[in-house]
Amino acid sequence: MKIKNSSFMISAVKSDQYPEGELPEIAFAGKSNVGKSSLINMLLNRRKLAKTSSTPGKTQTINFYNIDDKFRMVDLPGYGYAKVSKSQKAKWGEMIGNYLSGRENLLEVALLVDIRHRVTSDDKMMYNWIKEYGYRGIIIATKADKLSQSGVSKSLKDIKKDLEMDENSVLIAASSEKRTGKYKIWDLFNKLFEEKNLDIFFERQISK
Ligand code: GTP
Ligand code: MG
Repeated sequence: MKIKNSSFMISAVKSDQYPEGELPEIAFAGKSNVGKSSLINMLLNRRKLAKTSSTPGKTQTINFYNIDDKFRMVDLPGYGYAKVSKSQKAKWGEMIGNYLSGRENLLEVALLVDIRHRVTSDDKMMYNWIKEYGYRGIIIATKADKLSQSGVSKSLKDIKKDLEMDENSVLIAASSEKRTGKYKIWDLFNKLFEEKNLDIFFERQISK
């Protein structure tokens, strides 16, 4: 099937605001400004579905997107944003922790890291959380258009090493700007659906 309809559902800060858990979800986590919202737009061939901004801290709630009533993409609030108070940081941790720990219909978590930078302690913590909660961990190195091909290869090695990635996790370089990595990511999502015996398969989404 091809994606016909993707739409914004709800912004939540607490679990009682989440949509009913009847559809599988794939969540996108990562540092603020790393490109989570842009990646969701790229994957869905939508320019402005998820709001993006060059200023960090745009997405501060858990945003749910419905894809053809088949599954959902979940844009998690970005962490590691410098201008955040301690209490806001604690609120962020609680928000993400509650979602990851209690969401039975959560299939997998994609962790986005900026290909130009070394991973942060927050990224490591996030990766460890993902593993602790029993997910495989799909690591997406964003903004690959900013580096040369050899720079991309070197960064991927660094990310693997710094995160101490295990062999179950997957690492993919992507660029929402140049629209690369998209098919690899969709192939992976389709594989996840298949592994979970879900009757969901999305054909490669050719952009217009
Ligand atoms: P928060 O909502 O603050 O957590 O940020 P986010 O992770 O959702 O990032 P967002 O998608 O809003 O992108 C942040 C900035 O990076 C924007 O200015 C985007 O245009 C830019 N950006 C995102 N992806 C890419 C990419 O692949 N390449 C380049 N060059 N810029 C990108
Ligand atoms: Mg965002």
